[in-house]
Amino acid sequence: MSKAASGVRTSDAEGIAPQAWSDLIVRRCGLAFRHIRMPEVIGIVHGQMRARGIEHETEYYTLLARPGDGSGEWDALIERLTNHETSFFRHPPSFDALRLHILPELRATRPPGGRLSLWSAGCSTGQEAYSLAMCAIADNAHGQFTVWGSDISHEAIKIARQARFGRRSISTIPEHYRQRYLVPINDNGAGDFTIVEDLTQRVRFMGTNLVEPDGFRASHDVVFCHNVLIYFSPAAVTQAVARLAASVGLGGYLLLGPGEAPHDRPPGLEPVIVNGVRAFHRRTARPMEIKS
Ligand SMILES: C[S@@+](CC[C@H](N)C(=O)[O-])C[C@H]1O[C@@H](n2cnc3c(N)ncnc32)[C@H](O)[C@@H]1O
Repeated sequence: MSKAASGVRTSDAEGIAPQAWSDLIVRRCGLAFRHIRMPEVIGIVHGQMRARGIEHETEYYTLLARPGDGSGEWDALIERLTNHETSFFRHPPSFDALRLHILPELRATRPPGGRLSLWSAGCSTGQEAYSLAMCAIADNAHGQFTVWGSDISHEAIKIARQARFGRRSISTIPEHYRQRYLVPINDNGAGDFTIVEDLTQRVRFMGTNLVEPDGFRASHDVVFCHNVLIYFSPAAVTQAVARLAASVGLGGYLLLGPGEAPHDRPPGLEPVIVNGVRAFHRRTARPMEIKS
């Protein structure tokens, strides 16, 4: 066994051990692949390496492992490692909890005219963020709100901003919302739809990595994170949940997907059941919200 320039043990004379790739990917974006999928992941890494014109795995590994360096290279690799499967109103019970309980409660307890903030963390191509926006606007058409959609994938964010969806993909939107918030696009006969401007102008998208600190420190009334943490290592789940919890403002809620139970309670939040859905609620102020 030899040692790569970065100090990582290599599996043979020229290669990087699959475990070292796996550890690097987890560190960088939280994604943990099952043992059985590792050959496929290594194949993706090799494909990306060759596309970059790099011959030796150790050189490519060193480039990716250098802090702050190779970030363009990571972006390209992450596009190929992430799963962007999504749909409108994907887990209906979470949206029912939001529509029937959380939004009315927030409206009742917030000062009149106050702006609500909702965050779809790991929003993929935008369907989840637009679903949240449909619930929020239907709850109070004149109320002020912003939905933030974030994802590590820049490609997904680009598609989300276009707000263009095929006939099949809009079929999971409840009929009354479809009538009100979707409009056909008549440019090329593809039968695509877009979302009314009144909604798109209240939804903002950005690239964010949930396991890296960045400048996005807003305080949200609702943080929604579904089908993202199920792909993370346990340590990355803890890290991401702490980050999500820290961005829930006083009286706000964190809603995770059904398969995304964190081992520990999200710091500062209380587990609650809302309309049959497990959620986490901030009942007491975060230190920065306490006014002396
Ligand atoms: C399967 S999709 C889920 C989309 C949507 N939340 C839903 O439930 O339909 C998972 C998304 O998480 C994103 N993702 C993966 N790792 C991430 C990370 N470290 N930070 C932010 N987003 C991440 C992926 O790019 C992908 O778009």
